[in-house]
Amino acid sequence: MDTFRLEVSADGIALLTMDVPGEPVNTLRASFQDEFVAMAKRISDDSAIRALVIVSGKADNFIVGADVQMLAAAKSQTEATALSRGGQQAMAQLEELGKRKPTVAAIHGPALGGGFELALACTYRIATDSTKTQLGLPEVQLGLLPGAGGTQRLPALIGIAQALDLILAGKTVRASKARKLGLVDEVVPKAILIELARKRAAELASGALRPVRTRLSLKGGLPKMLRSMADAEVLQAVALEENPVGRRILFQQARKALRTKTRGHYPAPEKALEAVRIGIEKGAEEGYRAEADFFGELVVSEVSRRLVEIFFATTALKKDNGTDDSSVKALPVRKIGMLGAGLMGAGIAYVTADAGVPVRLKDKDDAGLGRGFKQIAGILDAKVKRRRLSRRERDDKLSLVTGTTDYSGMKTAEVIVEAVFEDLKLKQATVREVEREAPGAIFASNTSSIPIGQIAFGAVHPEKIVGMHFFSPVDKMPLLEIIRGPRTSAETVATTVALGKKMGKTVIVVNDGPGFYTSRVLAPYVNEATFILAEGAPVEEIDRALVDFGFPVGPLQLLDEVGIDVGAKVAHIMHAAFGDRMNPPPGFDKVVESGRLGRKAKKGFYLYVDVAGVKPVKEKLVDKSVYDLLPGGQKRTSIPASEIAERCVLQMVNEAALCLGEKVLRSPRDGDIGAVFGLGFPPFRGGPFRYADSLGASAVVERLRRYQDRFGARFASAPLLVEMAKSGAKFF
Ligand code: NAI
Repeated sequence: MDTFRLEVSADGIALLTMDVPGEPVNTLRASFQDEFVAMAKRISDDSAIRALVIVSGKADNFIVGADVQMLAAAKSQTEATALSRGGQQAMAQLEELGKRKPTVAAIHGPALGGGFELALACTYRIATDSTKTQLGLPEVQLGLLPGAGGTQRLPALIGIAQALDLILAGKTVRASKARKLGLVDEVVPKAILIELARKRAAELASGALRPVRTRLSLKGGLPKMLRSMADAEVLQAVALEENPVGRRILFQQARKALRTKTRGHYPAPEKALEAVRIGIEKGAEEGYRAEADFFGELVVSEVSRRLVEIFFATTALKKDNGTDDSSVKALPVRKIGMLGAGLMGAGIAYVTADAGVPVRLKDKDDAGLGRGFKQIAGILDAKVKRRRLSRRERDDKLSLVTGTTDYSGMKTAEVIVEAVFEDLKLKQATVREVEREAPGAIFASNTSSIPIGQIAFGAVHPEKIVGMHFFSPVDKMPLLEIIRGPRTSAETVATTVALGKKMGKTVIVVNDGPGFYTSRVLAPYVNEATFILAEGAPVEEIDRALVDFGFPVGPLQLLDEVGIDVGAKVAHIMHAAFGDRMNPPPGFDKVVESGRLGRKAKKGFYLYVDVAGVKPVKEKLVDKSVYDLLPGGQKRTSIPASEIAERCVLQMVNEAALCLGEKVLRSPRDGDIGAVFGLGFPPFRGGPFRYADSLGASAVVERLRRYQDRFGARFASAPLLVEMAKSGAKFF
């Protein structure tokens, strides 16, 4: 079956429809190239055709990018470079064609990566105003760069600074922003997309329309519309790009900013920057060559391989119903009840409403409810301010949340989520209330540490009780950990998994146990950091070692954010459950007892207010007075950064292996996704299991043994790792 379909109307406007047979979305594949080239030649040769409109045959997507499977299958750098060269040639042909017969890209739905590069090679671009329409070059998110001309055509179209802003971060934008940036020429309602595209094609062919492109430029001042959008940095960058010296400074600045951000862990944005620079300084031909060469290098790089594996894992999770039986169906959820309007409850209510599902929100009193509504409105208002949402959409979403201080209006909810205080007795009492007030509803607990089996103890319908562990802040954190209790039914799991996906979350399902998966593997990691602190290492050296390893923040800063008291509480629960292995360092309780609870108390490992306790401190500075509470006091001794990182990370890896061995985890895939999306494990390392594979089980066990000799039982290897070290097996 053909991917491209050509229809020519009487007025000489050809409509080229791309529709990859048997696939829900259009992706670009090398195998289409011959067909595409033949089609371009036919259009070029056919004197009856004056202009061309390119559209997608799919309902809601234009072209989502190159086929990632195809890229992943590339065996060598040469092969990958050839793929890029092929893509570049096809786009060059399209661009050439456009010089004689104008080409119009009519975009509805995502036009990303190669799909957007195809649009860039057209003469004119029109996008629909639908929220489904997204444009951009997200390749760096997979450790790649735009390999079909994007690094050359985008700067030429919208200027260097703006293009770098999109390419280096892999940002995608909605239609209105795309119009302002100059990515598209017009934005129209979907209903008239094709009609208008035909009209513009005819006008371009007759010469009646010449696209005017006002690049963001300081000459003559910025257009008013752009002034509000462009912040000081962008303005400065735009000023720079107008002369060669300025451009050199611009590239230097960009390189420096990238280094600070990536710490050298992510080569793709640096290569993309380099490809743009070469094109600007040495001309397009050199630019295209660099783009293809770098693309080849990146496709076979370890970093890209890891990021692509994560992409495939999340794609697979989207199809997973969370049980081992794919025939289990989720029950429809038309409304949820939310108990507790605190930090988490309000966050969960927001993501539910955002997904279009009505929420009945309950708290103890009006004050509690008020705080919850304020939090939800705050998230929505911020989106309106950033123009992610219209006022109208904001009001519509907010109207899906209604409040109560009793159980009125809860009976019709299919799922009731609880995020009341972390207290077993309270949670059990809540189960009884829900079973009385909303019989038949699924009861989902957002507990972060209490086993679901304990919450369900004494319940009439334990099969309806499940854990839905969200992460804070709920609207930003991508992971949802669903916990299947010992008696939770498959249908309950499938229903909450489907609900979580609807909320936009990446969902993993784990079996019950203290700390489930994420809290359980985080505990020994953070615990190790506190041991290292107790041994005398300075706070900043511990955090820096793990940030350099690739975590977004260090473990002690994380404790400050989460609450040192919360961390200590979890540490005690883990200690009670797992014994000596999770022994906290002696004397650590003193830190909490002194009232040092972290950011919320403005007193933690770092400074939040000045000595007088008044002015907020902006810079990240260690509060050295914490050392008075610790062994060693003010006298600190360095421990090598490599040892700090290795000890903390090995704790997490080893605990993850225990979780897999004990079947808390269904697969290493889920363990990696949970750690990357829930705990900030460095994505370029793939997660604890991929990381262990990269070291090899025997090396992991050997290192653990060395630390066990020095520090005792908490470094005892997981039996699964020992077994794998013997057999040479890998997790993947
Ligand atoms: P919070 O203290 O901000 O909110 C709890 C809310 O529940 C308060 O508004 C309180 O008035 C309300 N509440 C208490 N008893 C109630 C009842 N019987 N009926 C209705 N409302 C009641 O606490 P937060 O941080 O939102 O935590 C809630 C739950 O989420 C806890 O189980 C916690 O362990 C869990 N969790 C917290 C995370 C966090 O980062 N804060 C992360 C993941 C889970």
